[in-house]
Amino acid sequence: MSALPDIERWNPSLWDDDIGNPDVKEFFQDQLYALRTGRIEKGVNTYVRGLSRSGKTSTVRLFARCLMCVELNLETLNPCGHCEACTTQLDRFGEQGMFSYLRGRDVHFMPIDCMQIRGADHLRDLISGMADYNGVKVILLDEISRLSFRGLDELLLGPLQSLNYMWIATSIDSHKIDAAVLNRFPAKFTTVLPTTEELAMLLMRLCRQWGIPYDDPATLCLLAEASNNVTGIALHALAQVNAKRGDARALTRHAVEGFRDRLAG
Ligand SMILES: Nc1ncnc2c1ncn2[C@@H]1O[C@H](COP(=O)(O)OP(=O)(O)O)[C@@H](O)[C@H]1O
Ligand SMILES: [Mg+2]
Ligand SMILES: [Zn+2]
Repeated sequence: MSALPDIERWNPSLWDDDIGNPDVKEFFQDQLYALRTGRIEKGVNTYVRGLSRSGKTSTVRLFARCLMCVELNLETLNPCGHCEACTTQLDRFGEQGMFSYLRGRDVHFMPIDCMQIRGADHLRDLISGMADYNGVKVILLDEISRLSFRGLDELLLGPLQSLNYMWIATSIDSHKIDAAVLNRFPAKFTTVLPTTEELAMLLMRLCRQWGIPYDDPATLCLLAEASNNVTGIALHALAQVNAKRGDARALTRHAVEGFRDRLAG
């Protein structure tokens, strides 16, 4: 029996699979191109706000993956899919960050899950650990408001100003975040959901790729609507279908109606 796809850990690895978010994508693609062609040495600090599961973290990961890919396609800006950076799961790197060596240029990416920060010293250690590296350095402060809740975001004011890193922060909402901290991010975006059609098309591609049968293309649209066009919520439903046994492992209208009722309830 072949292994089931790990849908909960799926992450777009091509720009076309990252749907919606046109401005965020365009911005990261421009930064990617400028960094990879050496036009700039440090990316612009960027803040991405938006609904839970709307693609904040996955878009930043895609950007980081492209930045580290040894054979990035400079036309499409898609990563090659087979170099070491492309085949390593970013989330398995944890506190060591992710490192890639590209013909004389180093790229270092450190994703920080702000929920996991134990305190001020822990945060300081992670940030200063990057100082040992040369080249392009990117730190993701994922769910930065988790630091704000604990009064830790002020610690960032100095580093955000003085260190030669590209900082990227994400958050569901901004109101708890220190205004001075937010001001250190000149590029600010809010995620934009895909249309129902865009989401249904992605679901169709993924169902085919993962061998999950669906009864009718209309079911894909129904799932997109039931998820309020939030990609990560639709993928949750697909993951539930994926885990079913035998013929029940199929995306049917009945399954989507059940999912919709459970979401509402
Ligand atoms: N716009 C999108 N395009 C493609 N996949 C997405 C998109 N938004 C979310 N996903 C997928 O849904 C899941 C949750 O997305 P994530 O980026 O973690 O959301 P957020 O950080 O906004 O809470 C991930 O598996 C991700 O790959
Ligand atoms: Mg996230
Ligand atoms: Zn690659």
